[in-house]
Amino acid sequence: MSSPARHLVLVGMMGSGKSTAGRQLADSLDRRFVDVDDEVVAGAGRTIDEIFASEGEEGFRRRERDALLAAVADPSPAVIATGGGAVLDPENRSAMRAGAVTVWLRAGPEALAGRVRTARGRPMLGEDPYSDLRRLSLEREHAYEDAADAVVDVDHLDRRGVVEAVLRAIGAGERTE
Ligand code: S3P
Repeated sequence: MSSPARHLVLVGMMGSGKSTAGRQLADSLDRRFVDVDDEVVAGAGRTIDEIFASEGEEGFRRRERDALLAAVADPSPAVIATGGGAVLDPENRSAMRAGAVTVWLRAGPEALAGRVRTARGRPMLGEDPYSDLRRLSLEREHAYEDAADAVVDVDHLDRRGVVEAVLRAIGAGERTE
């Protein structure tokens, strides 16, 4: 599965640790790091909450798709952390399949709820984040499966463990510096 010329894309639910692991993986692999949520915010000049409030989820998803497709189209290989819902769009999934090795950071709703410390930037979560995370996980399971070349179960892994497991999954060995 080792394809150094392709992007490494991380998918998974909110709280699965995509941004943290992505940053460390980019260091490890000596690549650029792209966080799709950050690209959306920078492009819009507004926060995710503001985009949802003014353009709805649909507007956010359009911006997210544009940012993801642009990131994948860039020829210089990067580590790309996506937002939890990016896999819902079939166009995003085909772009990942064509231009990236995609790893799903999979976690159960208990672990996710424990890790999601803030609702800021996460308007998909309401009064009861655990129920929302459980429902969204179920709704999205097939999309994650469809998008991913490999799965890493992160429930019982610390940060370093996640990075090592992703490197193993993509066949990039144990390099973690
Ligand atoms: C979302 C996840 C968020 C962000 C937005 C929508 C989702 O990103 O893109 O709030 O639908 O799961 P993280 O997964 O980085 O929290």
